[in-house]
Amino acid sequence: MDYSKKLNSKAAALKPSGIRKFFDISEQMDNVISLGVGEPDFQTPWHIRRAGIESLEGGKTRYTANRGMEPLRKEIVKYMKRRFNLTYDPNEVVVTVGGSEAIDLAVRALVEPGDEVLIPQPSFVCYEPIVTLAGGVPVTIELKSYNNFVLTPEQLESKITSKTKALVLPYPSNPTGGIMLRQDLEKIAPIIKKHDLMVISDEIYAELTFGEDRHVSIAEIPDMWERTVIVSGFSKTYSMTGWRLGYALAPEPIISLMTKIHQFAIMSAPTTSQYAAIDALKNGDNDIKKMRNEYNARRRLVVNGFNEIGLTCFEPLGAFYAFPSIKSTGLTSEEFCEKLLYSKKVAMVPGNAFGDSGEGFVRVSYCYSVEHLKEALRRTAEFVKELKDGE
Ligand SMILES: Cc1ncc(COP(=O)(O)O)c(C=O)c1O
Repeated sequence: MDYSKKLNSKAAALKPSGIRKFFDISEQMDNVISLGVGEPDFQTPWHIRRAGIESLEGGKTRYTANRGMEPLRKEIVKYMKRRFNLTYDPNEVVVTVGGSEAIDLAVRALVEPGDEVLIPQPSFVCYEPIVTLAGGVPVTIELKSYNNFVLTPEQLESKITSKTKALVLPYPSNPTGGIMLRQDLEKIAPIIKKHDLMVISDEIYAELTFGEDRHVSIAEIPDMWERTVIVSGFSKTYSMTGWRLGYALAPEPIISLMTKIHQFAIMSAPTTSQYAAIDALKNGDNDIKKMRNEYNARRRLVVNGFNEIGLTCFEPLGAFYAFPSIKSTGLTSEEFCEKLLYSKKVAMVPGNAFGDSGEGFVRVSYCYSVEHLKEALRRTAEFVKELKDGE
């Protein structure tokens, strides 16, 4: 059968994720030391796992309410108030299968065919394909390293047209580690308001900031709450990637529509994970603190390490990634990653996997033990030295 005539052409035309390509190569090699995976290396804290187990032992094995269990939505609301000073009602929350589904729902609830959606890049790989599949038009905004990958008002304004519907705000950032401070958000808010845009704010790394200032949500900036969908989840904050649980917060009409889509596609997020998540929110603040401190120590090691090697690395103040520049080597980011992988068996992700403006950089995840990171840095230093000596 000629399947090309049977398959959805928009889906078929999507570019495969550039992150996967390098994992596929490295998985077939022995003794590869990876800095590639954007996933916490900690176990989910035991009390959270125990809550999941106890729910199973208690026979809690059925669907929940479509928008998520009420006790969980109430805990999410309390948590958002406690940690980020944001006020929501439990009706303004939908519990999803990871932040990933929350992004998909937000786009599908807001975007009409032909609507333009602004996507600052380099950024997480799913925004563009999801917008395309919804019939929208992704419009990328090239962030600059000399601005610490912050979205500036000028950059935002320059890409707005009469068709612009929404802005994806991806901070703290995967892959750059960049954050936007309150004063940065205050500069873009008037433009968002003036052009009547919606904001999909991906705050999945909100608990992972390392500077003096805590993460600030755009929803906290005056006039922004009513036009913001916050996407978040448990994967990164509590080391719960495999539990597949996330959530979105937004004004009720948006959440209702997102819930309707979720109801048809998913029914309800995993029940066991919802029980575990209630425990995470009630009893997990100390775990977050411990993991954040550990990430911070690794972050310093990695950033200093790359700068010493001569691969300039701006200070990432969020998430668990560093984004060193490899421009001084004269290689493209794909060439750099490929040569490094084959010659030193170290895996990193080329920056252009996160958009064209990521060219000249590599993404380094520091979700690994200090020994692992030190060995990767040692091999990378050797590689860069050999490149220079060979010139
Ligand atoms: C920026 C960002 N948003 C969303 C996600 C999705 O996470 P999950 O679906 O596990 O909650 C990720 C995962 O890597 C991410 O980096």
